[in-house]
Amino acid sequence: MAAAVAFALMVATMAATASNANAQLLADPYFYDAVCPEALPTIRRVVEQAVAAEPRMGASLLRLHFHDCFVNGCDGSILLDDTPFFTGEKNAAPNMNSARGFDVIDRIKDAVNAACRGNVVSCADIVAVAARDSIVALGGPSYHVPLGRRDARTASQAAANNSIPAPTFDLGRLVSNFASHGLSLQDLVLLSGAHTLGFSRCTNFRDRLYNETATLDGSLAAALRGPCPQTGGDDNLAPLDPTPARFDGGYYGSLLRARGLLHSDQQLFAGGLGVTDGLVRFYAANDDAFRRDFVEAMVRLSSLSPLTGSSGEVRVNCRKVNYN
Ligand code: HEM
Ligand SMILES: *[C@@H]1O[C@H](CO)[C@@H](O)[C@H](O)[C@H]1NC(C)=O
Ligand SMILES: *[C@@H]1O[C@H](CO)[C@@H](O)[C@H](O)[C@H]1NC(C)=O
Repeated sequence: MAAAVAFALMVATMAATASNANAQLLADPYFYDAVCPEALPTIRRVVEQAVAAEPRMGASLLRLHFHDCFVNGCDGSILLDDTPFFTGEKNAAPNMNSARGFDVIDRIKDAVNAACRGNVVSCADIVAVAARDSIVALGGPSYHVPLGRRDARTASQAAANNSIPAPTFDLGRLVSNFASHGLSLQDLVLLSGAHTLGFSRCTNFRDRLYNETATLDGSLAAALRGPCPQTGGDDNLAPLDPTPARFDGGYYGSLLRARGLLHSDQQLFAGGLGVTDGLVRFYAANDDAFRRDFVEAMVRLSSLSPLTGSSGEVRVNCRKVNYN
């Protein structure tokens, strides 16, 4: 296992170098200030309302950004609806019955187009900013979101199936998946910290309760077997960490106590001398460092292969491509 991780780490480093060389970096958090100074305050207002009405929505909007960015870059592709003539990403395995927040994105888009008196803010930028505002609304750190993404005119269900990591992955596959997106092993540990927020469905952690008991705390397993029986109850929810509506370092503390809900979560901490073990111990003990390093990793996630300049378009309706 140590050799596999060392190899994956090497691949991660190489991939990060390669992709940074090609990335069209977004660097401008003030992209909309001249054309629509009301854009960002409008997004924040709708996000705050949605999170106040349902705290979990903040988690869902954050995850939406992750699932957008990991499939051919942060280009709003996840927002496109399926039609009889078009298959998008919403029914790909990682998103089906799982990705949520699309109607909040619609509300933001309508409010932004009204505030801007026109269609100038891309759906991809809206998702990126809504993720940041969700983190902040739930007590997390703020950061400047680089802007200027444009929206894809395509989507790929196959890429969504293949590019988003699964909760069944072991550490080596998690690391190589992140490397394939130009993200490091440390980014993997940091961005997994997003699981300080939100919930998982039983279907994604059942094996932990009945088949992986060696790496799961006994009292947590016992408590979860009620809501997550061996058969049935697939969509019943459990929190990913003890405080699913508060952005904090509790996720890492849970891993130290073998209370990671998903197999992929607990893979980051095996209690030994592994690199990720050290990082988990460090962030569990240093909340300020977690908050500081997490936002840097978010900016890297947010900057994956954007469409810029005259590529793509600014969609009028986030659910469908413009006619032309
Ligand atoms: C490292 C690999 C990752 C895996 C295998 C993974 C897997 C999952 C799974 C299986 C769920 C539960 C979905 C459901 O049952 O419907 C989930 C929820 C969530 N994930 Fe991840 N995830 C990963 C990384 C990330 C990253 C990088 C972020 C954001 C930066 C993120 C943010 C979230 C959030 C906020 C939720 C809760 C969503 C809600 O309550 O609606 N995850 N993840
Ligand atoms: C993606 O995965 C889903 C669910 O497993 C499957 O039904 C679908 O055929 C897959 N799509 C592609 C293009 O591979
Ligand atoms: C339990 O895990 C083992 C090894 O990962 C696997 O072969 C087996 O199919 C699993 N059993 C169940 C009931 O999920």
